[in-house]
Amino acid sequence: MDAPALASIIKQRQTWKVMASVDQPIVHSREQLHAGDQGLADAIATAGWAPFHYDRAADGIAEPWRVHVLNQDRCRTLAREFSSLFLDIKPTNKLPAMLSACGALALVTWLPQFSHGVGGGSDTGVEKEKRVQIDEEHVAAASAFVQNLLLLLTAEGLGSYWSSGGQFRSKEMFNHLQIPTDQRLLAAVFVDYTPESDAPERAAGKHRENRADAGRWSRWI
Ligand SMILES: Cc1cc2nc3c(=O)[nH]c(=O)nc-3n(C[C@H](O)[C@H](O)[C@H](O)COP(=O)(O)O)c2cc1C
Repeated sequence: MDAPALASIIKQRQTWKVMASVDQPIVHSREQLHAGDQGLADAIATAGWAPFHYDRAADGIAEPWRVHVLNQDRCRTLAREFSSLFLDIKPTNKLPAMLSACGALALVTWLPQFSHGVGGGSDTGVEKEKRVQIDEEHVAAASAFVQNLLLLLTAEGLGSYWSSGGQFRSKEMFNHLQIPTDQRLLAAVFVDYTPESDAPERAAGKHRENRADAGRWSRWI
């Protein structure tokens, strides 16, 4: 791919929050689900070519990120269970509606190495500044993975929305989905399998147009 084609994908990537009611979720055809699942699986595998600095060496795996995918069935079930899992959920909470509209949800976590996250690791033998740097670079690498994923989904014709995750960050949800609590959620990526269709509700990201010219945040020295 040449640079203009890549630039075009980067600019085309756009947040779309797609929502449907829990009682009337979006129903995809078997073909749409198959194509979407395949596109997402391919995008995840290719996104794994993101750079990473330190061997995280957890479970013998060097990469500092992990991905947990909820397929459409799992998303719809979770949408229905949501209010019983989180009794204090506000009526304005959008997660059940997004779980009722997406094709899949990819939860991207990162693995803190030192006492920084929920589970943390050992502090011994490494100077504090170095510990902070290593964990920052684990997050940076996992973020490169997420942006790769969003761009690949865009190139596949699939929609995406990077959310901080709300209740998906909680210990209760980690336990419910059997995600180890030594991981921390970096991105809840809602994947839209039919971005061209008329969803009941579709909202753009709030900072889309809030961008300064590169000359304002970069300089050549
Ligand atoms: C780390 C991170 C977390 C985000 N979390 C949220 C979120 O919880 N809710 C939300 O509305 N948007 C969230 N966003 C998406 C941004 O709001 C969105 O990218 C922004 O509005 C710009 O729109 P665009 O993606 O269409 O360019 C997040 C983005 C990043 C990078």
